[in-house]
Amino acid sequence: MKFFIDTANLAQIKEANDLGVLDGVTTNPSLMAKEGIKGDAQIKQHYVDICNIVDGDVSAEVIAVDYDTIITEGLALAALHKNIVVKVPMIKDGIKAIKYFSNKGIRTNCTLVFSAGQALLAAKAGATYVSPFLGRLDDVSTDGLKLIEDIRIIYDNYGYETQILAASIRHPMHIIECAKIGADVATCPLQPIMQLLNHPLTTSGLETFLADYKKVNG
Ligand code: G3P
Repeated sequence: MKFFIDTANLAQIKEANDLGVLDGVTTNPSLMAKEGIKGDAQIKQHYVDICNIVDGDVSAEVIAVDYDTIITEGLALAALHKNIVVKVPMIKDGIKAIKYFSNKGIRTNCTLVFSAGQALLAAKAGATYVSPFLGRLDDVSTDGLKLIEDIRIIYDNYGYETQILAASIRHPMHIIECAKIGADVATCPLQPIMQLLNHPLTTSGLETFLADYKKVNG
């Protein structure tokens, strides 16, 4: 399973990349705004800065919601760097745009996916990635992991190559369950990735090993 970090924070992207397990980055307009990145030039430069840190796919989201402007924005984003993946919302004009980009060989990430039917449409349009938001489904008392399972079954039934990019991941168990289901990618903030490191028996076991070493070696 690939690990993407879901942030526009350069320090956190560097920290995850330095761990050696990072395969890419996802961003969205809210994450860019959180870092104070604004204006066309600054936003584009920030995407380039991210691409210069991580050698992997970097999702850059269009703001437009009409077909023509999605195409214009998407082409400009894709031209920024070879690793840019154009992130397009799951709306009618978005699906049409994904089909256009797919025909042009431009990679896409269909975002804001909350149902298996939406994921099926994204695959049929040729999306490179589909982003089901599992945490936000959990937030409204709906099983987000069940959606990942359903999409996995549907894509496997027909051999769709669209990769399932499990998004809106909030904690380590989301990552583990997504790995068991067979999601292709998990994208999440830095914290759940780092939390995978932790186990109290690892901590106490290491303390014992080091103490025993010290007893005889000084
Ligand atoms: O990749 C989508 C993600 O940014 C949404 O996460 O935690 O805002 O639901 P969250």
